[in-house]
Amino acid sequence: MVIGLAADHGGYKLKEEICEWLEDSGFAIKDFGALIYDAKDDYPDFVAPLARAVASGEVVRGIAICGSGVGAAIVANKVQGVRAALITETYSARQGVEHDDLNMMCLGGRVIGPELARELVNAFVAAQYSGEERHERRLDKLKQLEKDNFKETD
Ligand code: RB5
Repeated sequence: MVIGLAADHGGYKLKEEICEWLEDSGFAIKDFGALIYDAKDDYPDFVAPLARAVASGEVVRGIAICGSGVGAAIVANKVQGVRAALITETYSARQGVEHDDLNMMCLGGRVIGPELARELVNAFVAAQYSGEERHERRLDKLKQLEKDNFKETD
């Protein structure tokens, strides 16, 4: 299970910590940057490549971090096939995957502390999509919306 990560300067420090925890826990990770702290960098430059990797299946799940997590979530949801949300508590980190097949979790590096972030990451990566009929039905409706509203790229 390869987990992709991305962050701008607002999330850089937390991303580095999360990368370390995930690796220590035995996960393979792919870091989409920022690879150095740069107070002038822009979150779309890192979050969009991660979102494309999630959509293509190159990574199974993505964790994107900016200052608030808001910009990261907005960018990620511009990519067809990505289901991203700003997460601040463990119920949604787990239930978002189980019910909505959440594949990208966005965090606010200036909002949450490292210990809460660790619990959110653990809940997110441990959760599995239920596949239940009611959840599939809702996902099918969401996928139809994507089909209707996203421009085909290939
Ligand atoms: C960067 O200063 C900040 O605006 C960005 O990380 C994020 O919070 C946007 O949503």
